[in-house]
Amino acid sequence: MTFVVTGGSGALGRHVVAALPGARPVSRSSGTDLLRGTGLNALRADVVVHCATSFRHEVRMTRAVLDSRPAHLVYISIVGCQEVPLPYYRQKLAAERLIVDSGVPHTILRATQFHSLLRGMFERASKLLFLPVPGFRFQPVDEGEVGRELAALAQGPPAGRVPEMGGPEVREAAEFARVYLAAVGRQRKVVPLKVPGATYRAYRAGGNLSPGRAVGERTFAAYVTGVRAGPAT
Ligand SMILES: NC(=O)c1ccc[n+]([C@@H]2O[C@H](COP(=O)([O-])OP(=O)(O)OC[C@H]3O[C@@H](n4cnc5c(N)ncnc54)[C@H](OP(=O)(O)O)[C@@H]3O)[C@@H](O)[C@H]2O)c1
Repeated sequence: MTFVVTGGSGALGRHVVAALPGARPVSRSSGTDLLRGTGLNALRADVVVHCATSFRHEVRMTRAVLDSRPAHLVYISIVGCQEVPLPYYRQKLAAERLIVDSGVPHTILRATQFHSLLRGMFERASKLLFLPVPGFRFQPVDEGEVGRELAALAQGPPAGRVPEMGGPEVREAAEFARVYLAAVGRQRKVVPLKVPGATYRAYRAGGNLSPGRAVGERTFAAYVTGVRAGPAT
């Protein structure tokens, strides 16, 4: 079987490439642009694991991948794409539907937010004198674990939408922020922000969580400590 990983240079995709023997990473940096439609020959493979992403053009990007008609398309989606009315989440849900309706044999895995997403959010926000965080909970999961799960799914038969993958702990963003601050040795007052609107309400209600599927093993604390001690794994 031949494997291609779109977005194989990204936070998630590089873990899929590492876990999938012989997998070829494909993205703009390797000459394939899924939005401009260039270098699409590189998509030819039995199995395409689709990890490339675009905040505004997820559906267009996914259509380009489907046009290559792989024998099996593996797609990574997000827990809560049905509940949280963020424009990006709507795109993810529409991309899922496009895949299901395409007739291309597929597997779709929804995951919660990655550890690297929270870490990046706290890193940027802690440049201020205080650390503003969303006033709701997260269940971050290690993208290395999600990458290995996608690699395993890619080596099996198309399975449709498979059970979600959530991280090991559900905690307020403020608690994760304190874990981050302790790991990097920085002191900031953590300030949870509440904002009006349907998106905030959906997050606050736990739309981004999958407590019944807390299957990830590496905690956020282990991740941030590991990253601080050496390269991200
Ligand atoms: N981050 C999270 O917390 C999270 C949680 C659940 C699910 N997910 C899903 O996981 C997937 C990967 O997320 P990520 O955080 O790994 O993203 P990322 O680090 O931003 O990587 C995006 C990848 O897409 C490629 N790419 C962007 N535009 C492209 C284009 N026009 N043509 C071809 N390739 C393009 C990029 O490579 P080049 O720049 O070289 O093109 C890069 O390899 C996404 O579908 C996301 O929705 C993410």
